Amino acid sequence: MEIFIDSANIEEIGKWLAMGVIDGVTTNPSIMFKDGVYDAQAGAKEIAALVNPRPVSVEVTTNDLDEMLDQARIFAGWAPNIVIKIPQITVDGTPCYGVIKKLESEGIKVNATVALSLGQVILAAKAGATYISIFGGRVADEGGNAPELIRKAVNWLEHWNYKSKIIVGSIRGVIDIQEAAVAGAHIITIPPQFLTRMADHKYTRDTVRQFVTDAQKAMEMMEKARTS
Ligand code: E4P
Repeated sequence: MEIFIDSANIEEIGKWLAMGVIDGVTTNPSIMFKDGVYDAQAGAKEIAALVNPRPVSVEVTTNDLDEMLDQARIFAGWAPNIVIKIPQITVDGTPCYGVIKKLESEGIKVNATVALSLGQVILAAKAGATYISIFGGRVADEGGNAPELIRKAVNWLEHWNYKSKIIVGSIRGVIDIQEAAVAGAHIITIPPQFLTRMADHKYTRDTVRQFVTDAQKAMEMMEKARTS
């Protein structure tokens, strides 16, 4: 299983990259805005250079299918490791699978984003998407069972030998990460604050504190023995 970081914050990306725990980056226009990245081109190029050759997902910002194609081709030219996020449907419900098919046929990798149902996963896989992003938190917002959807999606892809990889996003807590991992997600994209919480544990801190304290006491005993 791979872990991506769901962020446009260059310091956080660099920090978790140096720890060796992230395999890629996902962004979207809301994440870029929240992280103060108003110039998407400059921001995406900086992230892509930092994590190269790991993938960086950048989302199109238009609701028009032809404009999606134009934007995707431009964004993909910013760096060799940029993956283009195309939504399943437009705001009016028009399917975007033709855009996904065209881009993949041109060698541009697509992350078919905002998948909330198994039907959407199936269509995105048929269209040839490299990645399909299931938004687990938003599935749960509407009363859906995210782990069950993830399990069904991964099983279906593997049963029929589709190349698409499931990215689970929309993480709202560490339990979502653990459930997605057990459900068989190929990739989970995690906001930095949940990577921090995933690592932390009160009793681990207490245990480490005990070891450090006892090691110091042992050194003091040795020093005492040496000087007496
Ligand atoms: C994933 O690729 C998305 O960037 C993200 O996880 C969306 O999550 P949200 O539901 O918090 O907006």
